[in-house]
Amino acid sequence: MNIMTKVIVAYESKFGNTKLVAETIVEGMREVEGIEADISELKEVDLDKVTDYDAILIGSPNHFGGPTKGVKKFIDKLGKLSLKVKMFAVFDTYLGKRSDYFFEKAVKKMEKRINETVPGLKRIAPGLSIKVQEMKGPLVEGELPKCKDFGRKIATKLKT
Ligand SMILES: Cc1cc2nc3c(=O)[nH]c(=O)nc-3n(C[C@H](O)[C@H](O)[C@H](O)COP(=O)(O)O)c2cc1C
Repeated sequence: MNIMTKVIVAYESKFGNTKLVAETIVEGMREVEGIEADISELKEVDLDKVTDYDAILIGSPNHFGGPTKGVKKFIDKLGKLSLKVKMFAVFDTYLGKRSDYFFEKAVKKMEKRINETVPGLKRIAPGLSIKVQEMKGPLVEGELPKCKDFGRKIATKLKT
């Protein structure tokens, strides 16, 4: 029997960096057999269709120390749906020019918010936090392979 596990990756991205992270995560996930991964900008996501998926991944750039307003609102809306979606994971991008102060800051806030507002959702794995060089990017060297690994890890966990 070959049952597909359906995943949706929803992201916000002002300058394209979080989008690249999302796309690379999807590449990694598609390497795992039995995974069907869709990707969408957050504002294009049809909430009624989210219920068709087994898992959701949410990505946000770090804006003012946490996820964007849009991402926060999206999580709150998820809490109001009766979801078939059972699993989640999150990822962020942050500016780490002088320090790693913002490493995982948005990720942790998203995880907390999901736990509080969508208690039925279970975390697949700890979130991924990816560093950019400047406000508009690009990603710091060595960060992109982490995205593919993350996708592969998430997909493998979903299949076992
Ligand atoms: C309005 C705004 C506020 C930001 N605040 C932070 C911040 O508090 N900490 C941080 O690490 N990066 C901050 N950044 C930098 C973003 O994290 C960076 O632009 C983002 O990771 C790039 O991803 P994107 O191309 O997907 O938008 C901010 C960027 C913008 C536009």
